[in-house]
Amino acid sequence: MRVLGIETSCDETGIAIFDDQQGILAHQLYSQIKLHADYGGVVPELASRDHIRKTLPLIEAALQQAGCRSEDLDGIAYTAGPGLVGALLVGATIARSLAMAWNKPAVPVHHMEGHLLAPMLEERVPEFPFIALLVSGGHTLLVRVDGIGQYQILGESIDDAAGEAFDKTAKLLGLDYPGGAALARLAEQGTAGRFVFPRPMTDRPGLDFSFSGLKTFAANTIHSQGSDDQTRADIAHAFQSAVVDTLAIKCKRALQETGLKRLVIAGGVSANRELRSQLAELMHKLGGEVFYPRPEFCTDNGAMIAFAGMQRLKAGHTTGLEIVVQPRWNLETLAPVTL
Ligand SMILES: Nc1ncnc2c1ncn2[C@@H]1O[C@H](COP(=O)(O)OP(=O)(O)OP(=O)(O)O)[C@@H](O)[C@H]1O
Ligand SMILES: [Mg+2]
Repeated sequence: MRVLGIETSCDETGIAIFDDQQGILAHQLYSQIKLHADYGGVVPELASRDHIRKTLPLIEAALQQAGCRSEDLDGIAYTAGPGLVGALLVGATIARSLAMAWNKPAVPVHHMEGHLLAPMLEERVPEFPFIALLVSGGHTLLVRVDGIGQYQILGESIDDAAGEAFDKTAKLLGLDYPGGAALARLAEQGTAGRFVFPRPMTDRPGLDFSFSGLKTFAANTIHSQGSDDQTRADIAHAFQSAVVDTLAIKCKRALQETGLKRLVIAGGVSANRELRSQLAELMHKLGGEVFYPRPEFCTDNGAMIAFAGMQRLKAGHTTGLEIVVQPRWNLETLAPVTL
């Protein structure tokens, strides 16, 4: 079976072709980062317009890269939500129209299910059940995963997502949007222990997160200590340590409460090296295992959508001719996949 995946939920146009026998046959990605950089964040209308420009050429490029024709596809999967409504509509409209023209089934995919299943594109695949930590630009979710479509949200951020907190703090430190990866690089030059930021909501029971206070803490530290290069690096270090420690404490708690031994991390922030090494250490201590996607599949991409779409296509979860997107969409409401 071979599926074309189309991702347009935010500021990346991601197209891929996944084959269940041969793996990823094509992977094309166009990032709009430069387009939005001047504004310090994603401008939804510009994002939609750019997806219109890029989606079809990237689909053509993917077909060429895979050496296949539309006839060779068994279905078209597209991100139907959550995300920016205009951006989602571009991908959904193109996917639905091509599916009709090519007489193929169309499969709507939940963007966070795409992220959650992305580690399954790697050689070492996690078995169910596991705990997933989804940390991206728009979400921070701790999920108990008993199977595809069997998700129980154990905890989530009550304010900023982890990636959003990285980006806002990076901006305070004078780094370009989205500054998560740049902040992580700056943190490597920082002195451990010069500043200590709080670990929000770790001193009380529960698995929810709150990250907006850390940004304020960073702003206050800049205000009182100045922003010379070393101070900026020390703040970046303190901020990153606080986020990573907080995520690790909550992962440990979720694993202990559920008795599970497998942890999956996905979403853009899962590319963070400090987070990966701390969670690897934690799982080593707990006698468990951690799984994550290769760095390029941590952030948005078409491969995760093609993969998730294939699982749903096999279970017959296709859609009719209507074009429906869901800018807000609870992961827990997805139908379980029973093959
Ligand atoms: N090495 C890193 N360390 C910390 N954060 C990072 C790193 N690399 C990327 N990020 C952050 O990951 C986020 C982007 O991830 P992703 O593409 O998964 O999010 P999104 O698609 O915008 O949000 P969502 O998936 O919730 O809709 C940004 O906030 C970015 O700063
Ligand atoms: Mg994403």
